Amino acid sequence: MSTGREFDRRIATVNLPVTRASSVLFDTLAQAEAEGAATVAGEWHRSTYATAGTTTTYALMDALAEVEGAPHRCRAALMPSGLAAISVALMAYLEHGDHLLITDSVYGPTRLFAQNTLARFGVTAEFYDPAIGAGIEALIRPETRVVFMESPGSYTFEIQDVPAICEVARRRGVLTMIDNTWASPAFARPFDWGVDLSLLALTKYWGGHADLLMGAAVVREEHWLPLWQAVRQFGQCVGGDDAFMVLRGLRTAEVRMQRQQQTALTVARWLEQRPEVARVLHPGLPSHPQHALFQRDFSGACGLFGFELKAATPAQLAALCDRRRHFGIGYSWGGYESLIMPAKIATLRSAKPWTGGPLVRIHCGLDDPQDLIADLADGLAAMARA
Ligand SMILES: Cc1ncc(COP(=O)(O)O)c(C=O)c1O
Repeated sequence: MSTGREFDRRIATVNLPVTRASSVLFDTLAQAEAEGAATVAGEWHRSTYATAGTTTTYALMDALAEVEGAPHRCRAALMPSGLAAISVALMAYLEHGDHLLITDSVYGPTRLFAQNTLARFGVTAEFYDPAIGAGIEALIRPETRVVFMESPGSYTFEIQDVPAICEVARRRGVLTMIDNTWASPAFARPFDWGVDLSLLALTKYWGGHADLLMGAAVVREEHWLPLWQAVRQFGQCVGGDDAFMVLRGLRTAEVRMQRQQQTALTVARWLEQRPEVARVLHPGLPSHPQHALFQRDFSGACGLFGFELKAATPAQLAALCDRRRHFGIGYSWGGYESLIMPAKIATLRSAKPWTGGPLVRIHCGLDDPQDLIADLADGLAAMARA
């Protein structure tokens, strides 16, 4: 059965071939045993079985460790979704009796994981006001193990003073994690801010075409082993085809994001002028309460932002969103398609409850900004009639 299995190294192509694999083969039993021991010890690029890695997944892990981590010494692990990367990373460093500080503005499923699953394992999650900055020190207890940040926050787009939080956490021996999906390495450098572990939903801009799900946890080398052990023990892995697609998306992610940033700012500025809109939640606008922090720490904004309506009934929200020409109704973001979705955040905030009007989230894809503006103008007109 060895026929047709020779890899022809004479033909050089731009991209790597895709490895689809479960079994990994060795020349000798001694080599198989040595590789097994190396995998358990968390050594890089050592695999006895494709759940530990293949040539394609290691290529993506290397690329992510570099684009997200460099010049810091980091390693990256892949998970089958962004949420899986978040939950496995939290499980890797927390244990029974630990205290977790987590931003109130966190992605909803991350909140649920902390409140439900981590609580079942005896971890106490405390939600903090995203505006806390260095004031986080007052919340740190002897048993606080992790601070989990997301900046800007999901749906409400608050920017946190991440460097100030990291300075306190490092001094107090607490590990810091951030969900960096919104800015991604194109527009934010979490390891320069002092973060220990960064999470990316590759499903969004790095896949970029709404056709795959994947997540990554990128961590400073000194914290690698607990993460890698959790990844291996929970059996977290991704297939070669999807890893190849993310490697492909990674080449153009920043260019797409630059374009989507310009489109989103054009649409956001237009929305700011509309009488139905109370406020636009976009950190790149001077009207955003933490615009100065955004300018200090970020080099750009992606295509995702929110706006608050002065008032809207559920029927009016439906009229705004239904049957748009360019905006689809969908929960995701980060692809080339534009999306609109009202946000229901009443149950997703506890430290800082939302007191504003109805919230709508928009993702600007690669559409023409004037098409998106015309579509929203139609939606607001339909809202007025409803
Ligand atoms: C900020 C943020 N983090 C993580 C995720 C989870 O990514 P995935 O859908 O790949 O699980 C999402 C998904 O919407 C998100 O918005």
